[in-house]
Amino acid sequence: KAGLWTYDPGFMATAPVESKITYIDGEKGELLHRGYAIDELASNAEYLEVCYALLYGDLPNAEQKQAFYERVSNHMAVHDQLRKFFEGFRRDAHPMAIMVGVVGALSAFYHNHLDISDPKHRDNTAVDLIAKVPTLAAMSYKYSIGEPFMYPRKDFSYAENFLYMMFATPGEPDYKVDPVLVKAMDKIFTLHADHEQNASTSTVRLAGSTGANPYACIAAGIVALWGPSHGGANEAVLEMLDEIGSVDKVEEFMEKVKRKEVKLMGFGHRVYRNFDPRAKVMKETCDEVLGALGINDPKLELAMKLEQIALNDPYFVERKLYPNVDFYSGIILKAIGIPTSMFTVIFALARTVGWISHWTEMHSEAFKIGRPRQRYTGETHRKFVPLNERK
Ligand code: SDX
Repeated sequence: KAGLWTYDPGFMATAPVESKITYIDGEKGELLHRGYAIDELASNAEYLEVCYALLYGDLPNAEQKQAFYERVSNHMAVHDQLRKFFEGFRRDAHPMAIMVGVVGALSAFYHNHLDISDPKHRDNTAVDLIAKVPTLAAMSYKYSIGEPFMYPRKDFSYAENFLYMMFATPGEPDYKVDPVLVKAMDKIFTLHADHEQNASTSTVRLAGSTGANPYACIAAGIVALWGPSHGGANEAVLEMLDEIGSVDKVEEFMEKVKRKEVKLMGFGHRVYRNFDPRAKVMKETCDEVLGALGINDPKLELAMKLEQIALNDPYFVERKLYPNVDFYSGIILKAIGIPTSMFTVIFALARTVGWISHWTEMHSEAFKIGRPRQRYTGETHRKFVPLNERK
């Protein structure tokens, strides 16, 4: 009897996750990290300051900032043996596939002496991951283009080091990174740092709730982020703009969207029923970077036309579909010189601090193993049928 097999999940459903890290108001389009508004952080703080706040609860003072920056800088280099791990991949492997493998492999380097019940070990792991992901991300790109890996430099800032490891070669000892690109990269990292209980963060928390190795938990977060409905959308936005081709083809594309043949990538959100505040900052940054670099990218004009049509079209207005963090990010990344294949890797690099902050928060309090509830809608109990009696 069906009634026998359903239950009211109300009393059995797991309570919502409690967290002090990030607050989102989807109706108002508000995003706070430790109480600070995302637009204020993106305009006034460096990414590593935001990392400090996400991890420890508040922005660092001058002394704390100096010490944290040094700790990160001292951990950016990776074990030389890890370089061999890359050689197992085909050169055309997607960099996200490489990141899943390599970050997961870090759990094999730091498993025997890692005691996650020790807050010091947990903190060292968090700083180690924040420090190493830019190096591993740059290595995944260098491997794909057949260039030698570059080592991080002690005299470079975090975002500067990442762009240096991405684009410099051993033959350019005096390679300088354009400060405009460094500032834009740092701001993009901040805009992707954390976003409450999104799919990938929930994945990290669920994996972490079993007591699994934290490096392996972050690899699980990278897997979840890779999907085009989540972090893979920034790459999908550029592919969509390429498919549309020109402004005069926008109306035709929008009709395909309304017939539900395709989605408007970079639009819509599980929580925001208003503008994603990150999209606003991203668009301003887009204008700044392209202006400073003197780039007139037709894709930006196309994206703005798409946005303008969508924001005035009842189909989108009724469904409260607005641009999200992924809509403009790809255009800036392209202007910085980042290949499309690396867009989601950048998202994973920046979100590592959010993932490990939530993992740390969970482990610093009493917690139970995660167990999402289900509503059973299958067959009621029935008698076994021997093979020779089955129809
Ligand atoms: C991220 O959770 C997070 O916080 C994620 C993230 C983070 O920082 O971690 O913010 C990062 O993942 C941003 C989202 C990136 N994804 C994309 O841009 C892909 C395109 N977006 C869609 O796939 C979609 O909007 C989702 C997956 C983001 C949300 O899907 P939902 O929750 O199903 O959307 P909804 O319930 O608001 O949909 C309402 C209606 C539906 O149509 P109807 O059934 O009512 O007719 O809007 C439609 C949907 O089909 N719709 C879209 C659409 N998104 C929703 N129609 C066209 N294009 C879209 N993008």
